[in-house]
Amino acid sequence: MTDPIRKFNRWFDAAAKAGIKEPNAMTLATATRDGKPSARMVLLKGVDHGGFVFFTNYESRKGRELAQNARAALVFYWEPLGRQVRVTGRVSRVTAKESDEYFATRHLGSRYSASASNQSRVIASRAVLERKLARLKEKYRDDGPPRPIHWGGFRVQPDEIEFWQAGEFRLHDRVRYRRRGSSWVMDRLSP
Ligand SMILES: Cc1cc2nc3c(=O)[nH]c(=O)nc-3n(C[C@H](O)[C@H](O)[C@H](O)COP(=O)(O)O)c2cc1C
Repeated sequence: MTDPIRKFNRWFDAAAKAGIKEPNAMTLATATRDGKPSARMVLLKGVDHGGFVFFTNYESRKGRELAQNARAALVFYWEPLGRQVRVTGRVSRVTAKESDEYFATRHLGSRYSASASNQSRVIASRAVLERKLARLKEKYRDDGPPRPIHWGGFRVQPDEIEFWQAGEFRLHDRVRYRRRGSSWVMDRLSP
């Protein structure tokens, strides 16, 4: 297959069909300007315009790192299928409209939580967070809170995608795609 995004979608559908609870859970690795790495799980919310989209707080650690260094790596692991997918690419914010649209689809409780949380900042106690949540619920009780200006999506525009399929006795299959202009170059890598 010459289009790795189509291949990704096929593998993703297979992972969903295999009954994996959160096939969209992925490790997101970012780094500071001087290359100090950090990684955490996030949820893939769509693959569109050829990019992998997730949502978060722009002022979180990952958000601050992406502001300094707009490159990231993603890793999916679908254990029942013996499959791993690795992605690297440049990262940009999705439009405010896209973030608004996605925010509106979220559960009311999750919208409040996003509004209450200064993600990745130190807080004095759980009670501080809960008081803030209660104040927001009081303030926006009719419609729910608007999308916080610092909450939204990022899109990882892949320049490299690797598909790994577990093989017998660890003789795995690794197929790497690298973007070359508008097409992709495919190579098989030694396991
Ligand atoms: C399965 C799973 C899915 C998660 N999905 C998200 C997500 O989509 N967005 C997000 O901001 N945090 C998500 N988190 C929380 C992050 O892993 C992380 O704790 C948080 O974003 C703060 O990361 P940071 O301090 O590196 O910015 C998820 C955690 C888990 C375990």
